[in-house]
Amino acid sequence: MGLVALQGCSGDSYPQSAMHPSSDFATRLDDLFDQIFWWAVGVFVVVEAVLIYVIVRFRERPGGPRPQEIHGHVLMEIGWTLAPALILVAIAIPTIQTIFVVDRPPTDENALVVEAIGRQWWWEFRYPELGIVTANEAHIPVGRTIDLRLRSADVLHSFWVPKLGGKRDLVPGRENQLWFTADSAGVYWGQCAEYCGTAHAWMGMRVIADEPADFEAWVASEGADAVALTQPAERAGQAVFMSNACVSCHRIQGTAAVGVFGPDLTHFGSRLTLGAGVLENTEANLIRWIDSTQHVKPGNLMPEVQLSDQQVAQLAAYLRALR
Ligand code: CUA
Repeated sequence: MGLVALQGCSGDSYPQSAMHPSSDFATRLDDLFDQIFWWAVGVFVVVEAVLIYVIVRFRERPGGPRPQEIHGHVLMEIGWTLAPALILVAIAIPTIQTIFVVDRPPTDENALVVEAIGRQWWWEFRYPELGIVTANEAHIPVGRTIDLRLRSADVLHSFWVPKLGGKRDLVPGRENQLWFTADSAGVYWGQCAEYCGTAHAWMGMRVIADEPADFEAWVASEGADAVALTQPAERAGQAVFMSNACVSCHRIQGTAAVGVFGPDLTHFGSRLTLGAGVLENTEANLIRWIDSTQHVKPGNLMPEVQLSDQQVAQLAAYLRALR
């Protein structure tokens, strides 16, 4: 990882940098990038050195001789044709090797299948073996290969979590595959990397790599209904939710809300962000989101429902209690 030294920064300050890999897949891409980078540095140094030498050595001097014109130099011409060709071969070999490795299906039989479905403009994550459906934030266990199945519900999207893997498209009508094994726990930022409409730039995600025990705990809680409501405001918020248009788009496991058009909100309160990575999941931000969602994320498909300030606050209390 030679570039870390050049950049003089730690991985944490760049949560979405491909140059701070945290998986086997991303490390391969980064190694390849480093190799090509150092070839480029070598070429730059040689070309600039020759250029500076020629400028100094053959500069015009007062009273000096006129430079002699040379027509063709076989050895030099062979040299500057052959050298770049050989460098390209040296780059092509590891590039092609890497393409084959990252393109094959995962070899680990114990891989965890996670379906990532791109939607305008959020991410749905399904864990078919675990019976879990969630949105915008996927938890994965450290050290276990993730076998990602990429699909789209509408238009082209591209899955990109730079520290874990390269970009791969989500294409309507077909399933693409991507795999990686996270090597350390952390929150990895991702972004849709294929223009998919108005809110494309706001189509973010988080992949949270947990130590295996933490992942098991997440699976246990995420698979169950949300914890029981304790506060009157939360119950009032639930009533607001169930008597408005919210129910027709969102699902909250264990309630009458079974919509599938918008993100599953069963454990919304335990998420780090809202609106597909647009805002931190705080009470104030959630109120802002419900109240003026089209202002926060223009073009998103959630309508602004007419509610009183009190109803919005109750709704926020309810959603944040969904843990
Ligand atoms: Cu989805 Cu861009």
